[in-house]
Amino acid sequence: MDERITQTSADPFEAKQEITLRPQHLTDFIGQSDAKDNLKIFIEAAKKRGEPLDHVLFYGPPGLGKTTFAGIIANELEVDIKITSGPAIGRAGDLAAILTNLNDNDVLFIDEIHRLNRSVEEVLYSAMEDYALDIVIGKGPSARSIRLDIARFTLIGATTRSGSLSAPLRDRFGVICKFEMYKEKELSQIIERSAGLMGVRVDPEATALMARCSRGTPRVANRLLKRIRDFSQVMGDGYIDEEITRKSLKALGVDDLGLEKLDRDILMTIIQRFNGGPVGIDTIAASIGEERITLEDAHEPYLIQSGLLYRTQKGRMVSRLGYAHMGIPYPFGDEEDNSEDNDDQLTLL
Ligand SMILES: Nc1ncnc2c1ncn2[C@@H]1O[C@H](COP(=O)(O)OP(=O)(O)O)[C@@H](O)[C@H]1O
Ligand SMILES: [Mg+2]
Repeated sequence: MDERITQTSADPFEAKQEITLRPQHLTDFIGQSDAKDNLKIFIEAAKKRGEPLDHVLFYGPPGLGKTTFAGIIANELEVDIKITSGPAIGRAGDLAAILTNLNDNDVLFIDEIHRLNRSVEEVLYSAMEDYALDIVIGKGPSARSIRLDIARFTLIGATTRSGSLSAPLRDRFGVICKFEMYKEKELSQIIERSAGLMGVRVDPEATALMARCSRGTPRVANRLLKRIRDFSQVMGDGYIDEEITRKSLKALGVDDLGLEKLDRDILMTIIQRFNGGPVGIDTIAASIGEERITLEDAHEPYLIQSGLLYRTQKGRMVSRLGYAHMGIPYPFGDEEDNSEDNDDQLTLL
């Protein structure tokens, strides 16, 4: 099992534990105000009309609350939610079975929707558009196609990479929401809320420090809180103050920006072996023996967000700030670093 403290994906055991910390209603959901404000209106309107909510796509890095928000939407609509994921739906028939079991206005949540295989995805098109399944009966010359009506449902898809979604699928979502990393203040609120639910006392300085080290991600914030609670119970009386938090973060290998060893390895590899970049993501992954997808989904977004790393057409580069964070003098003189080549605004996420 991966023991990384700042790992942004949930392991199965943790996924169960998270349920108790997961907000259940819009009012408990902290941050993402754009998505929240819009969806609140769409939900109310759908309820008033007695119709299903339009299909919704959530995209953004892991741990930002996409699954949580899908649950909240179902709660607010007062309908049932069926949860599955792209890789779990192997064949078109599996999806057909799920769809035919839904009731009107129900929510179907498909996590990692970019990983649906082609034949399954094609079944979704007519299901999303016409609430119908086209089924082929028989084989060869006698085969015929029949159309089967299904419930008028809402599909909520979640993906870490909307760029990997095919255009026909993407186009069938009426609402597309990007999840942003959380501000420190919002993370502090999330930590306070979780601490309340867990019955632990945390002082405000400790909360602020944890928030700063949570890489903009509520899942990381909750995980830090749990681990630091362990330290505080063993080293002290269970009260979490700034000193305990500092010591715990150090023991956990989390630095003052929330970077863990792998993040620092990424920066160090680019600096030392590739002269600060630009270097392709595959080359970086091979150099440090990690999978590309891990770097892209779980590490790069935060490194970019904090201005330590940036993407250009030619590859990843460490910024002046990145050098400073690693304690290495910036070797490219006093002129501005190449951040203006930064392609991130152009990159389709
Ligand atoms: N806005 C939020 N307010 C409070 N807690 C949150 C919020 N967003 C996420 N969380 C917490 O973070 C954890 C991870 O969220 P999740 O919805 O599983 O993320 P994702 O599906 O985007 O990977 C949840 O268990 C939840 O407790
Ligand atoms: Mg999720």
